[in-house]
Amino acid sequence: MHTEYIEINEINFDETVNKASELIREGKLVVFPTETVYGLGADGLNGQAVRNVYAAKGRPLDNPVILHVSSIEMLDRLVVDRPEISDLLIEKFWPGPLTMIFKKSNIIPKEITAGLDTVAVRMPNRKFTLSLIKASDTPLAGPSANTSGKSSPTSGEHCRHDLDGKVDMIVSDGDTEVGLESTVIDLSVKNPMILRPGAVTFEMLRAYIPNLEIDSTILESSSDLIPKSPGQKYKHYAPDAEALLFTGGNEEIVRNMKEYIAKNRTKKIGVLSTTENVSEFDRENVLVLDMGSRDNLNEVAHRLFGSLREFDRIGVDLILCEGFEENEMGLAVMNRLKKACSNKIIKGENK
Ligand code: TXA
Ligand code: MG
Repeated sequence: MHTEYIEINEINFDETVNKASELIREGKLVVFPTETVYGLGADGLNGQAVRNVYAAKGRPLDNPVILHVSSIEMLDRLVVDRPEISDLLIEKFWPGPLTMIFKKSNIIPKEITAGLDTVAVRMPNRKFTLSLIKASDTPLAGPSANTSGKSSPTSGEHCRHDLDGKVDMIVSDGDTEVGLESTVIDLSVKNPMILRPGAVTFEMLRAYIPNLEIDSTILESSSDLIPKSPGQKYKHYAPDAEALLFTGGNEEIVRNMKEYIAKNRTKKIGVLSTTENVSEFDRENVLVLDMGSRDNLNEVAHRLFGSLREFDRIGVDLILCEGFEENEMGLAVMNRLKKACSNKIIKGENK
């Protein structure tokens, strides 16, 4: 299949919206930008088109996908029994990186929900994609536009790397702002529950939902626990090289990383470091990528997936990743880092 790659700008914006929406209406696949990560889009009400999305990604069929909407009217055609709290969350966080799970209406094809009676919906915060959904007049099915198991794409180039020849069009619109996938909150249960942490943090949501819970598999990574969100149980964000996560106090992390480097001198080692620690590795003969300041976890989130992909591109044998405290944005960053490291964690003693 030939994949058309379009970098949008002010001049070709309307024309690209029209072209992409025609493809969507014909049941074709269009990669679209959002503020979180790029999505692999298809007409969410067309079961065959959605099956093609799974095939292009190599995604397991029991992992449901998110629907992207451009209006509340569109949302209300997709769900039933929408709880009152969702009005407030929509007002505060949409368009934005928050996906809500509701009981589904009967227009949703089974391919979207993988047989569940609930559906995940969000309104993305990107002008192009909101225009595309509107022009297509249908919700866009949109899992992240990566090969299943790899880091989610935060640039058009990442999508091209994974999906060239497998989709009809890739619409590139620069880097995504957030860099991690949306927060997923289940509103179909008695006590709303976070199934995937993201930029709309637990702390932000709890301000409106006092009985908010969080799926215990996010906090503890025991293999005995089965995550409530089907996608969370799969191998994710796996870089080509083995990766290890270092936690504890900052000095401990650096000390343990250096010890590890000393024991593995024959290997080509990549270090994912915060700005504050980069110079610690000057004399270590390792390849360091700067994720941004420890004081700005939004920056760290923004660069994380691109950095993991960069290590794949360069080709290293081992990746050592600095860890963070698991609160606010740190919870989402650590959730992705733990998965990237297949839960191989070198724990320090201080916290
Ligand atoms: O930021 C994002 O959410 C991106 C952009 C493109 O919008 N999309 C994204 O989609 O990350 P995806 O398919 O890669 O992740 C969707 C997650 C999966 O973990 C899936 O299992 C979960 O949401 N999910 C979808 N429907 C669900 C449902 N009905 N119940 C529980 N979990 C659900
Ligand atoms: Mg994904």
